[in-house]
Amino acid sequence: MKRDFLYHRIPMLLTFAALLGSCGRTSGPKVAPYLDENAPLETRIEDALSRMTLEEKVAVLHAQSKFSSAGVPRLGIPEVWCTDGPHGIRPEVLWDEWDQAGWTNDSCTAFPALTCLAATWNPEMSALYGRSIGEEARYREKDVLLGPGVNIYRLPLNGRNFEYMGEDPYLSSRMVVPYVQGVQTNGVAACVKHFALNNQEVNRTRVNVVVDDRALHEIYLPAFRAAVKEGGAWAIMGAYNRYKGEHCCHNSYLLNDILKKEWGFDGVVISDWGGVHDTKQAIENGLDMEFGSWTNGLSWGASNAYDNYYLARPYLELLRRGEASEATLDDKVRRVLRLIFRTAMNTHKPFGSLNSPEHLAAARRIAGEGMVLLKNDGSVLPFDPGTMKRLLVVGENAVKMMTVGGGSSSLKVRHECTPLEGLRKAAGDGVEVLYERGYVGDVSTDYNGVDSGQDLTETRTAGELLADAVAAAREADAVLFVGGLNKSGHQDCEGADRLSYGLPYGQDTVIEALAAANPRLAVVLVSGNAVAMPWIDRVPAVLEAWFSGSEAGNALADVVFGAVNPSGKLPFSFPVRLEDNGAIALGEYPGGDSVTYREGLFVGYRWLESKGIVPLFAFGHGLSYTTFSISDVRSDRTSLGSDGRIRVSADVTNTGDRAGAEVVQLYIGDEESSLPRPVKELKGFQKVSLAPGETRTVTFDITPEQLQYYDDRQGAWGAEAGRFTAFVGAASDDIRGTVTFELK
Ligand code: BGC
Repeated sequence: MKRDFLYHRIPMLLTFAALLGSCGRTSGPKVAPYLDENAPLETRIEDALSRMTLEEKVAVLHAQSKFSSAGVPRLGIPEVWCTDGPHGIRPEVLWDEWDQAGWTNDSCTAFPALTCLAATWNPEMSALYGRSIGEEARYREKDVLLGPGVNIYRLPLNGRNFEYMGEDPYLSSRMVVPYVQGVQTNGVAACVKHFALNNQEVNRTRVNVVVDDRALHEIYLPAFRAAVKEGGAWAIMGAYNRYKGEHCCHNSYLLNDILKKEWGFDGVVISDWGGVHDTKQAIENGLDMEFGSWTNGLSWGASNAYDNYYLARPYLELLRRGEASEATLDDKVRRVLRLIFRTAMNTHKPFGSLNSPEHLAAARRIAGEGMVLLKNDGSVLPFDPGTMKRLLVVGENAVKMMTVGGGSSSLKVRHECTPLEGLRKAAGDGVEVLYERGYVGDVSTDYNGVDSGQDLTETRTAGELLADAVAAAREADAVLFVGGLNKSGHQDCEGADRLSYGLPYGQDTVIEALAAANPRLAVVLVSGNAVAMPWIDRVPAVLEAWFSGSEAGNALADVVFGAVNPSGKLPFSFPVRLEDNGAIALGEYPGGDSVTYREGLFVGYRWLESKGIVPLFAFGHGLSYTTFSISDVRSDRTSLGSDGRIRVSADVTNTGDRAGAEVVQLYIGDEESSLPRPVKELKGFQKVSLAPGETRTVTFDITPEQLQYYDDRQGAWGAEAGRFTAFVGAASDDIRGTVTFELK
């Protein structure tokens, strides 16, 4: 039943409910407790639960369509409607199919990919993102947004890294919390995914991840924990892969022991689509709602597929035979009811909005703030239209729409401003912006029935394309190459991993040729992953622009023409070679039925620093058009007790001639430890906007909690007394001052 239908009948429902609630009373009609929004949440849940039949209870635990589950029509309890996530609201799909339904009023705002959001290193941008995407979900009457994703970036080949927040547990924790809270202020649940250890797409539905307890707790779980404990997430999605031999959608240790018991999660565990494999495990091991089993809705699957779900008829039969516990059933139903009261039945929630000017502005702002200036010798960027008559743009990613494709995060936007379009608008009348394709990548333009409508066919040969681009480059005042990866299979796309670290489609050759033809060359990478850059020494400027959504082109133009001074910082390392990555170096990827994370907690910069490997671009790196000094790193004391804190401060000054923002980063290293620890780990950051010449003092309060590690011998977090170093700087490889202190 469609939600509107229900709500138009609310007066009728209330009369009916009034009867339910007033039985045996002599006073006037009274609303049944579960319908009374002023009643405490748990009272409403118990009341609703007590009115439900066994069949009704089982019915709310599994899908009834591709993205919805049943309510309890008899009681006026509405359905739950989910949507992807995490970068925009997925177009409406047909009832039982992945293909879009062809609505003409469901075009959304595409927000930048989560890698870009993480690269802002600005929790305020996360809050803006969450609020805005939550408003779009609300407008589309969705109750659960399937996002954000916080799986850790273990290696640069994972096809889904673009949907996540990078390699560091502290950064992703700080960035996920405001996203979740922002979404949920709209009465829409954030469903944090994919819990847990879903760090590759190869063999994703069967691979068993073997990881030590320290890495699990210190690296792979903290962002989920923050989303639950600090963000108060109302839903979490199990992952496809296995851990300890059990699929993560029904994994007793992860779901029962950690999530529900240790973290006190009171929301619903939703399966990934098709991630459930066994009724008994689904019942016992912590899953609450099952989606996507049995059918792809189109070419395979049982008839009456939804009745055949593991948590449908098979569950009901076990219950009827007394072979499944009703207490376990009631726990699941309580969670689903809690979700429904928080979302679908919350009549105080805002109406929401879709594609508003505010959302487009938010997307542009986040995109501009997330772009990372990797290299800049000042000779090209920012472009000065006053000294330029002809700008040549080269590369397929300058014209290819990137919001269509990539898997479940694929979107249908009202308009996507491509880089070429944005650059042409910003360049103004005095600058001619010419375009050459340079190479052909992927000409496909459709995904699940959404077609970007672009015609990317090309008749020239690779040699002709290159020659044309080089000839045009010789005549141009400056050249902007816009390339990178795209959202096609084996690029930045769900369901498969990249096949190599290098740029695809012969782009390295094009970049080398352009650099030889014109020294005023800037390279823009559109990607969600690190790539090799064998040409780095021959290119004066490189910008990582990410997949940046509806406003991609405008945001890129803001940055390259200098209207926005870049302030993004890398949320993951760019190694020189793939073999510099720990998992790859140890040969622990992709595995077969099993993969062992033998690098342990030495992921990303933790690996590089422990091995003394110099990266191409380090975690936390990102330049600006101005310069900053970070000086006088100091602390207010030299030691702290177990209940104390130590305050580390530094002065940051804008030493250039443009306004800009610097992210001051605090890392901590443990000098004496009985267990191996990384050289240093991110424990704080602050983004500071400064006018030219302005100085501000930043302070970080370090508590014993920040000095802890997970002691796998004890199965608990703890900090050891001894010496620590606080490193303060502008990147993990750009430390401007240190202080040492002692934990007593
Ligand atoms: C993905 C999820 C997504 C779901 C629904 C799955 O294939 O792994 O992230 O939310 O599909 O589209």
